[in-house]
Amino acid sequence: MNQTFIMIKPDGVKRGLVGEIISRFEKRGLKIEKLQMVNISRSLAEKHYQEHYGKDFFSSLVEYVTSGPSVIMVISGLNVVKIARDMIGSTNPAEAAAGTIRGDFALEISKNIIHGSDSEKSAAREIELFFPSS
Ligand code: RTP
Ligand code: MG
Repeated sequence: MNQTFIMIKPDGVKRGLVGEIISRFEKRGLKIEKLQMVNISRSLAEKHYQEHYGKDFFSSLVEYVTSGPSVIMVISGLNVVKIARDMIGSTNPAEAAAGTIRGDFALEISKNIIHGSDSEKSAAREIELFFPSS
């Protein structure tokens, strides 16, 4: 499956980084298949981040991604899951290389502006969660 799920988190949207981020993916040669601005509900956020349930940052993570509108996308292209993760950079922006999205636009792990699926399995699950097939 050459599709992945991307979410520009509320701080990325508030800071006006939507165009910049979409532009990076497009310029790389990836295709925007689906795109929507949404207010993510608490229950959807909890399902999305279910692997982190019980960790000390779980409730603040859910607060963060429900704190305002997010932009959600399905993007496609050869090896898109890995390529998008590489473009996004390390989870902690302090460790993210310059030239990555987090390395260029974020400072803190609790405000790292973007999510990308971490595997093909996660991508399939997350795409179905946010864009359920009718
Ligand atoms: P994401 O799922 O958002 O794309 O981030 P990721 O794969 O790079 O990192 P992951 O381990 O899945 O963590 C999910 C989000 O939880 C927050 N986080 N805070 N120690 C902490 O305070 C901590 N660890 C993770 C971050 O917002 C991270 O993006
Ligand atoms: Mg993750």
